Amino acid sequence: MNPADLDRHYVWHPFTQMRDWNAPGHRPLVIVEGRGALLRADDGRDYLDGNSSIWTNLHGHRRPEIDQAIRDQLDRIAHSSFLGLTNDVAARLACELAEATQLRGHKVFFSDDGSTAIEAALKMVHQARIQRGEKKRKTFVSLANGYHGDTVGAMSAGHSSVFHAAYKPLLFESREVMSPACYRCPHNRAKPIRGSEARVTRQCNWECAGELTSALDALGESASALVLEPRVQGAAGMTMHPRGYLEKAAVACRERGIWLVLDEVMTGFGRTGPMFAFQDEKVAPDLLALAKGLTGGYLPVAATLASQEIFDAFLGGYEETFFHGHSYTGNALGCAAALASLKIFESDRTLQKNAVLGEKLSRLTAKFWEHPNVGDVRREGLICGIEIVADFASRRPFPLADRMGRRICEAARKHGLLTRPIGDVLVLMPPYCVTDEQLARMVDALWLGLCEVIPHA
Ligand SMILES: Cc1ncc(COP(=O)(O)O)c(C=O)c1O
Repeated sequence: MNPADLDRHYVWHPFTQMRDWNAPGHRPLVIVEGRGALLRADDGRDYLDGNSSIWTNLHGHRRPEIDQAIRDQLDRIAHSSFLGLTNDVAARLACELAEATQLRGHKVFFSDDGSTAIEAALKMVHQARIQRGEKKRKTFVSLANGYHGDTVGAMSAGHSSVFHAAYKPLLFESREVMSPACYRCPHNRAKPIRGSEARVTRQCNWECAGELTSALDALGESASALVLEPRVQGAAGMTMHPRGYLEKAAVACRERGIWLVLDEVMTGFGRTGPMFAFQDEKVAPDLLALAKGLTGGYLPVAATLASQEIFDAFLGGYEETFFHGHSYTGNALGCAAALASLKIFESDRTLQKNAVLGEKLSRLTAKFWEHPNVGDVRREGLICGIEIVADFASRRPFPLADRMGRRICEAARKHGLLTRPIGDVLVLMPPYCVTDEQLARMVDALWLGLCEVIPHA
């Protein structure tokens, strides 16, 4: 059997309706190689990696320095246990992460992916509260439409009806507060203006921050931690927060003794502009979850950075140990890749280059405003979300069943772009190595896809 048939016969894919996948006539694209911002498929074509391989890749595929770091590490050892032992690369990486985040007093707890990084953070909060004698502080607060991963704890802090509804009975309660997502905010009195991001033209009184503080006040001594994706909520539809919200939220938490858990699984490592999104607003999280880009998108390594205050709560007797961990914690190959990726930020002056690339992305995607069914074009760093609507003036979405986003991305694929929408939000999130010409082709392919699915005069 060829790989596509083997796949259809044996594999179950994530977030995929397998009835459609296995439908007659659907032939999965088999990726066989990658280089830079390109992915080569078994149909012989090179495709642009328009969402950085589900938001993981930073410096491109087959980046020589990362490839070499993994080979060098392989010549020494691939993996050894992190339970009762350590290894040189993981220890060095912990130090580099403390430096990069400027959270020098935090301790780094390694795990495997975004969900496990969040799961560890939630368990740390829960257990630390008990061990500090703050037993009443049980409630997690998190944003509407938030997504923090698929394990049971991470889902409990999430509020995505599509992803979480089936599992509701398994989840613990968390207090949902409104998301500062201006485009669909009920408090935003501004009419949509073509050519302007809703965040910029918004007219409101920061009701989102007001609702958060009211919720925290109502919870009083039972509020334990606020969990949020800073600046950009990815799976919510690349909803982007107005600058200032994060700081307001952090202050509200600090004043009430509530811990701030930031999920930078998607936003970390330069994706939104600064190295970490929280640095844009000069707040300091009590817990920080990192994954995806941590290894440059090569290998599954995640980290949860915990404040000294939280770490100290575990320094009692044996029974106060953090009984949590994974077999591949501190994996040496992954840590070597991560160290090499961090070095590239310096050698390539990645953040400075990304700032220029981001401006180009804005200029190129501005043409989407010409399409009557584009409701919002928003960008933060190298994340661009283009929201498709049935009606511009009322922001009315298309019926879910129309699957506009998916159809547009499928059409864009014919023009050489691979990306995945979130509902009807089209996502462009190029690897940082993308050339000007590739970036322009990405935007063109998406535009052609849009115009084919929803023709306009
Ligand atoms: C903000 C955020 N948190 C957590 C996760 C879960 O990460 P993973 O898929 O690596 O488990 C994701 C995944 O998309 C994410 O975007």
